[in-house]
Amino acid sequence: MEVKTSLLDNMIGVGDMVLLEPLTEDSFIENLRNRFDHNEIYTYIGSVVISMNPYRSLPIFTPEKVEEYRNRNFYELSPHIYALADEAYRSLRDQDKDQCILITGESGAGKTEASKLVMSYVAAVCGKGQEVNKVKEQLLQSNPVLEAFGNAKTVRNDNSSRFGKYMDIEFDFKGDPVGGVISNYLLEKSRVVKQPRGERNFHIFYQLLSGASDDTLRKLKLDRDFSKYNYLSLDSANVNGLDDAANFRTVRNAMQIVGFMEDEVQSVLELVAAVLKLGNIEFKPESRSNGYDESRVKDKNDLKEMCELLGIEQSVLERAFSYRTVEAKLEKVSTTLNVSQAYYARDALAKNLYSRLFSWLVTRINESIKAQSKTRHKVMGVLDIYGFEIFEDGDNSFEQFIINYCNEKLQQIFIELTLREEQEEYIREDIEWTNIEYFNNAVICDLIENNQNGILAMLDEECLRPGTVTDITFLDKLNTVCAEHQHFESRLSKNSKFLTDHSLPHSCFRIQHYAGKVLYRVEGFMDKNNDLLYRDLSQAMYKANHKLIKQLFPEGNPAKVNLKRPPTAGFQFKHSVGTLMRNLQTKNPNYIRCVKPNDKKAPRIFTDSLVRHQVAYLGLMENVRVRRAGYAYRQAYEPCLERYKMLCKQTWPHWKGPTREGVEVLMADLQVSTEEFAYGNSKIFIRNPRTLFSLEEKRRGCLENLAALIQKIYRGWKCRTHFLLLKRSQVVVAAWYRRYAQQKKYTQIKSATIMVQSYSRGWKARKILRELKHQKRCEEAATTIAAYWHGTQVRREYRKFFRANAGRKIYSFIMQRLMQKYFLGLKRDLPSMSPIGGSWPTRPYRFLDTAHTELRSIFHHWRCKKYRSRFTDERKAVFEEKLQASEIFKDKKALYPSSVGQPFRGDYLEISKNPKYQKLSSAMDEKVLLADMVNKINRANGKGTARIFLLTKNNFVLADQKTGQVKASVPLPDLASISVSTQNDGFFALKLKEGSAGATKGDFLLSSEHLIEIITKLRRTGATAVNHNHLDIDISDEFLVQFKQDKVCVKFVQGAPKNGNGASCKRKNNRLLEVSVPSTA
Ligand SMILES: Nc1ncnc2c1ncn2[C@@H]1O[C@H](COP(=O)(O)OP(=O)(O)OP(=O)(O)O)[C@@H](O)[C@H]1O
Ligand SMILES: [Mg+2]
Repeated sequence: MEVKTSLLDNMIGVGDMVLLEPLTEDSFIENLRNRFDHNEIYTYIGSVVISMNPYRSLPIFTPEKVEEYRNRNFYELSPHIYALADEAYRSLRDQDKDQCILITGESGAGKTEASKLVMSYVAAVCGKGQEVNKVKEQLLQSNPVLEAFGNAKTVRNDNSSRFGKYMDIEFDFKGDPVGGVISNYLLEKSRVVKQPRGERNFHIFYQLLSGASDDTLRKLKLDRDFSKYNYLSLDSANVNGLDDAANFRTVRNAMQIVGFMEDEVQSVLELVAAVLKLGNIEFKPESRSNGYDESRVKDKNDLKEMCELLGIEQSVLERAFSYRTVEAKLEKVSTTLNVSQAYYARDALAKNLYSRLFSWLVTRINESIKAQSKTRHKVMGVLDIYGFEIFEDGDNSFEQFIINYCNEKLQQIFIELTLREEQEEYIREDIEWTNIEYFNNAVICDLIENNQNGILAMLDEECLRPGTVTDITFLDKLNTVCAEHQHFESRLSKNSKFLTDHSLPHSCFRIQHYAGKVLYRVEGFMDKNNDLLYRDLSQAMYKANHKLIKQLFPEGNPAKVNLKRPPTAGFQFKHSVGTLMRNLQTKNPNYIRCVKPNDKKAPRIFTDSLVRHQVAYLGLMENVRVRRAGYAYRQAYEPCLERYKMLCKQTWPHWKGPTREGVEVLMADLQVSTEEFAYGNSKIFIRNPRTLFSLEEKRRGCLENLAALIQKIYRGWKCRTHFLLLKRSQVVVAAWYRRYAQQKKYTQIKSATIMVQSYSRGWKARKILRELKHQKRCEEAATTIAAYWHGTQVRREYRKFFRANAGRKIYSFIMQRLMQKYFLGLKRDLPSMSPIGGSWPTRPYRFLDTAHTELRSIFHHWRCKKYRSRFTDERKAVFEEKLQASEIFKDKKALYPSSVGQPFRGDYLEISKNPKYQKLSSAMDEKVLLADMVNKINRANGKGTARIFLLTKNNFVLADQKTGQVKASVPLPDLASISVSTQNDGFFALKLKEGSAGATKGDFLLSSEHLIEIITKLRRTGATAVNHNHLDIDISDEFLVQFKQDKVCVKFVQGAPKNGNGASCKRKNNRLLEVSVPSTA
């Protein structure tokens, strides 16, 4: 729901002065102050907006604010300039009424800012689109250009508009801007050549010098230093918070947006530069023969540069500063100018140059912003004109006179329009018209503008009058003509009623304006009104080779010499003000009255006297009075009923019938006196603000009761809702709890049931099991009994039929089984394959004794055979020798067992390889079968001599151990027998056959460690050699040995055990050699 507010809500002070009670100047000022202190800078007087300058930026001009005020009724929200702009724009757009916004106030009160706010608001709320935006942009950007050329820093305002401006913004039927027209009024051109103390020239001069590039300045023949120019005041050239350089860029940019061509901008800047140069031209007197001084340009450099800039021939201009040509009818008279006249001419030229440039700029901007289509447009005019200007020290001149005249005219139109509107509204609403008492300033306007005896007409007359005319003659004239006028005062007026008024100097006159008395000093009135520029100068300008300059001085064209005097400034102004007034009268006016809170340009300061003064001369009290003359307050029936319907039972809360009737019922119920209000067609008119306030008071009280009622209902509703919520929650909680409890109970019952069930089932199952077990036992018993019975039956049958052969079969079967088991066991436990392995499994059964022994022997033979089959011939021979040795010595000689393990190597001396025996070896023509070292026992002492014993196939040889010399070589057939003892010794005797060749030397008694091998080999070899003759081997412990002739007995005796040494031989006597053999034990 849209929240409807009212101007009457949340007010600080009174938002509309019409409602001020009591209405006095003090209460008026107090209300303004109160609101100003609370940052409420806008206050209404009906539909007029009073605007206080805050001198600081307030957050009330944001896009959000624009939206807030957009399409809202004027009194709906707190006072704002946007409300006025919105109202004006909407009635222009929707009701097709042309509007004008008249902004007045003294210098620095915020008029220009207000006009910009209105324009920016309208730009924000009107239509959008590329074309529309371009137009908006051009209209808005015309401001910086005009401000640069037309504004200046003054003591009152750092950005004071030094011209009046009226801008018509044109809209199409949809309310979109399509273009505009700007009119300018009376530029304060005197500022170009001279600025009051603390003020400076127009902004553009400073902006150009600060912001232009070095290159541009060079082209314009300018220097950045302000002090180089006479026309620029130095004391306040730099203004705090004003960035001239940045502003220059803004201006250039704005000119571009508005549509200025680059060469146009250049021309404009050249003119600005020319004005500065002009100011620097100085004159000196030169005495002439006629006794008069004639002026001459002092330093021609600036003149030259200026002429170059503007394309003027230097001599022409120089001459124009020294001579003046007066043309009358057909005559041309040339007079010389003295120095002061030359300065006057120079300044007049500068002022004209600048003011014409300014007018040209306005025209040029108009060209750019003018609407394209020729159809009728709706128009909104914005007038930003200088307000009343009163210099308290009486230093008011022609400019102030003109400005104040303009304000008189505006007041006049204000009164006219306000009253007219008031009257129209009364007629529209069918309300009886009551005459309103107010001061009509038409009489003052008449004093100034009357064509016959008005001050302006007198001034023009005086200017045109031939003869000596001065400002004083003008004052005299006024004194005669206007003396009777009640608003004119002068010391020397005809009736001299002011002769005693010392506040009125002689050279002054005073006008009692509607806004107060103003004292004007007549000095300069004539000059300024004449605004004289010598024709020579305008002609010199016209001759310039510069497009713009030529345009600005058309009267300089010699082809169009007009001997008529140009219209005076006063006349021109009166004319343009007249046009303006006529223009404004066709439009619906909207007023913004700007008030300046202090003289310090400072925020938050409210100077009572200053505001009081402005309130007075702006006629604000008048304004309120006019507004309140009939009915102070009016409101449409619908919002009125909506606002106060709670005050009456019949209208509260809803009124069903027509709203007017509702209001009538309401007023009757409230017993408001009938004189206090009147019913219009669509509005109720309230005569006295007090009535409205009492309604408001009652409403406030009622609102409090309503608030309490709403509070009560709300609290009740809240508690009820809370209670219902609790109740609903309780039901939910209870349901959940019950469910939980039931669930728990059910679980318990279920588990108990399952328990009981399981016990019962267990009991039943056990019972069944017992029965089944019993049944099974019974069945098993029956089966067993049946089996035994069947067994018995079978056995009985078996015995009957098979007993006879059973024993044999069982025996053979068991035997087979036993044998099988025996053989398999034997196979499993077979002993090693070594022939000397002695192990053999034990027999398992005694009855297998023979077979077991037999099998052992068979196995042994078999493994020996296997063993033998692996033998080579050589090993076979060795074994044969070993076998033979065993046959010879086994169990016969004690030495034998120790020889079994020794291999029979045969050649122990390695006779063929050993070089020691090389000779011996070579002497052997047979293969040596055995070579060993033996001891030859000496018969004489029984001692042994080492000899090499060699055995060949046919001989055995004994050789010297050292020399290898053969000592004896005996053919084997000569060997008769060999004798050895039974004992463990190595002695043996080789006995030769008697009568053989070797027998001559006797037998040989030898001892050897390899006795068994030597004898075995001798026997084998000897056997083959002696053609199978058997070689006897005599084994006894006593035998005879034939040494040469003697036979000596060799006897072997058992000696004591000895360590290491073998047997020892000793000669016992001639016939006995005793060999002592150590016992082995
Ligand atoms: N609404 C505003 N908010 C903030 N500052 C403001 C406002 N209105 C005016 N001012 C300040 O006051 C200064 C003077 O305002 P402005 O130039 O509009 O005065 P003016 O009435 O046009 O004066 P003049 O008659 O000399 O041209 C502005 O430069 C600005 O600093
Ligand atoms: Mg201004």
